[in-house]
Amino acid sequence: MSEAAPGEGTAQPDDAGFDDYDIFSAELRNCPHQRWARMQQECPVAHSDRFGGSWLVTRFADIKAMTRDPELYSSRVSDVGGPMPGPGHKGLFLPPITSDPPEHAGHRGVLLPFLVPARVAELEPFIREKAAALARVLAEQGGGDAATGFAQQLAISVLTRLLDVPAETAPRFIEWTVRLLRTGPLDQAARAAVVSEMIGYFDELLRERAAAARAGAVQSGMGAGDLITYLTRPREDGQPLSRKQQIGSALVIMIAGADTTWSALSASLLHLGTHPADRRRLREEPKLMSTAIEELLRAYAPVMLARVSTQGTDVHGRHIPAGERMLFPLAAANRDPEVFEDPDQVKLDRRRNAHLAFGSGAHRCLGSPLARLEMRVALEEWLAVIPEFEVTDPGSIEWTGGTVRGPETVPFRVLP
Ligand code: HEM
Repeated sequence: MSEAAPGEGTAQPDDAGFDDYDIFSAELRNCPHQRWARMQQECPVAHSDRFGGSWLVTRFADIKAMTRDPELYSSRVSDVGGPMPGPGHKGLFLPPITSDPPEHAGHRGVLLPFLVPARVAELEPFIREKAAALARVLAEQGGGDAATGFAQQLAISVLTRLLDVPAETAPRFIEWTVRLLRTGPLDQAARAAVVSEMIGYFDELLRERAAAARAGAVQSGMGAGDLITYLTRPREDGQPLSRKQQIGSALVIMIAGADTTWSALSASLLHLGTHPADRRRLREEPKLMSTAIEELLRAYAPVMLARVSTQGTDVHGRHIPAGERMLFPLAAANRDPEVFEDPDQVKLDRRRNAHLAFGSGAHRCLGSPLARLEMRVALEEWLAVIPEFEVTDPGSIEWTGGTVRGPETVPFRVLP
């Protein structure tokens, strides 16, 4: 059992009220947990006009119920900030993330065959080899940055493999992810530019793969069964997906699978690099790995979800009008003392752990088998190559905020 990593709940919240919160403030990025805990007690639904306006919900039970109620809380807007588009808007179409019933199930079904456990298991040798190679480079250097030099590289190379695009595309994917999810909510022009670049890229890629499939020429990587080619094929009813859906589904893989995974992995390495006893325990009890990963996901859940209220409702004495953005920081739900004993303690062998890091209900993460596989293999290979290490100056680490929260850097040195 150990306290969560530095930057995790060590700051004292000031006495400012709970409304008018700023999800990109240093407090809510770097050490939000004391504030979440006070909000759960004193203001479980808060409101802010910042970044297009939103309502922030912090209790586990409320977040779980609201994510399971698409009639009252629509998924049509997934951004945590930015102008609030009206109903029927033509925003970024990311099926199934931005889909509501009745279309949602069909949109989810399109990607499902590529993300079921048996299919993602085929990626394990690739992930293992890549993780070991990245760790070896850092080990030879005597240290480096576990976030940008390991977690980020690994998560993105898995996506390039899944999409069967050249490994050299990885830096571009990283740059897009950072611009879209980190700069985007604060700078709409930057967001529009990156969205148009990504759409252009996937449009072209889909065109090339469709032409190659027609010519019977797709043989590389995952071969004719690659995800992009599959998206261009006719469905069971003989009709192909619309162009918009093909592009949206390809975009989803990149957007949903990138900094979510690298942030969860970076936070896990930050934890292990600041908690020698947990590190030792994982090395000595490898069978604990899967249970430990659930606990690391609970404690450092990276995602803040967004929804839009579809009608006026009253929740905990606050009136939420229709058409307003709702925010669900899953990390807050995962530290709710009503559900988790000693929520700020990381217990690698925690048994009762029905955390919400992957969401809940119909939109529950479709990539969770892949995310869990990546985290397990990454930590196994890291500990095999770098059994002893320490994070240098953990108190100075900055965390990203908004949709995905994680340590921007995890500087470490290898210990003898
Ligand atoms: C630790 C890593 C990850 C975390 C914490 C995470 C978290 C989440 C969460 C919270 C949702 C729910 C969204 C909602 O309710 O609106 C979600 C949805 C989704 N995730 Fe993940 N995710 C991770 C990795 C991945 C990966 C690696 C992929 C695929 C490459 C992926 C693909 C998806 C897809 C397609 C959805 C949409 C499901 C739907 O709307 O029905 N995720 N993820």
